[in-house]
Amino acid sequence: MKNSTGQTDGQTDTNKKMVSLRSAVAPFLAMDVLVAANAREAEGKTVLHMEVGEPGHQAPLAVREAAKEAIDNARISYTPSLGLPSLRARIARHYGETYGADVSPDRVAITTGSSAGFILSFLAAFDVGDRVGLSAPGYPAYRNTLKALGLVPVDISVKAANRYVVTADEVAAVHSEEKLQGLLIASPANPSGTMLKPDAFIDLIKCCEELDIRFISDEIYHGLVFDGQAETALNHSKNAVVINSFSKYYCMTGWRIGWMVLPQDLNRPIERLAQSLYISAPYLSQVAAEKAFDATQELDQIKQVYARNREKLLRALPEIGFEDMHPADGAFYIYADARRFTNDALDFSKKLLETVGVAATPGVDFDPINGQTTIRFSFAGSEETIDAAIAAMKSSKCCQL
Ligand SMILES: Cc1ncc(COP(=O)(O)O)c(C=O)c1O
Repeated sequence: MKNSTGQTDGQTDTNKKMVSLRSAVAPFLAMDVLVAANAREAEGKTVLHMEVGEPGHQAPLAVREAAKEAIDNARISYTPSLGLPSLRARIARHYGETYGADVSPDRVAITTGSSAGFILSFLAAFDVGDRVGLSAPGYPAYRNTLKALGLVPVDISVKAANRYVVTADEVAAVHSEEKLQGLLIASPANPSGTMLKPDAFIDLIKCCEELDIRFISDEIYHGLVFDGQAETALNHSKNAVVINSFSKYYCMTGWRIGWMVLPQDLNRPIERLAQSLYISAPYLSQVAAEKAFDATQELDQIKQVYARNREKLLRALPEIGFEDMHPADGAFYIYADARRFTNDALDFSKKLLETVGVAATPGVDFDPINGQTTIRFSFAGSEETIDAAIAAMKSSKCCQL
């Protein structure tokens, strides 16, 4: 699969000494599939996009109107590095309304997507060489970002048979072999969609507190829960870092805007880092994001589209021959076993795109060791896209790819 630079990853550069070793992280394959899919579209071919976790719908109307108003009437300036006070206050209020959590606006930091939240929190909480536990399969950027910052990602392998969740006992066992300084968990998770049951989530946090492991809770898929109720780590720990974003439920990926709720000891370190790393998140996105909290009705209608897409895929994928998928409690992904078709997920995803016109992400992106037979389908697109993808896969006989 061609990447956007035309270079092959891992290729030796004649000028090797000019490129850092820390940049030799694995590619984020979902983004590489997107580049290949876009190239096909540019040739006039149809692509059914199921590769990137990106809502097919645009940002809510009130968000777009606030941005237009700001372009016409505001000076688009820097903001304080931790964000506009009114947005920080609105997010703090959201925690009271949604989770009954008492959060002071001072603890809220606005970031350029949750992606910047990871960089800032890793830098503020850990030193070079520190070990951070992650579930495998898990979101690939965690591993790549940790490595680029000189930290050590420690994979904790999870399986479909156990709902793809990390347990407190597993964390304690890994820690007893060699100490962990951090644990990063997303619930609901990417790629499995699994949400930890409340008791298991609380056990995990308690275990981290007892063992002095910093718990980082990626809550980006809160709001997109189909079964059960999402818990915030804020209600169970004073030391946890909570990371969230406007990208998913709020349909604002390209606005690059997210937030963190910080424990007291990380507040000023993160402010200092943000001041120098990117000064502030974009003013325009901050002003617009504040309105996203009033768009619940519009956003819940979009969530209903995901719910229908999820049902359709859970019915159709086993008929096509995919196996062992966890029925996605939340988020908008199905992580399916394709062992009947392949033991080379990357090759299979290439063929699925080239032959069937369906763009999906190979499991090796999420689990380099055990992801060779798995594929992740995102169902964040329109119902038409999902219907067409199901029809195309049914008629193409994936086993002949
Ligand atoms: C689990 C998880 N966390 C974080 C992100 C990053 O999102 P953003 O930087 O747009 O907030 C993603 C994106 O797919 C994700 O799946």
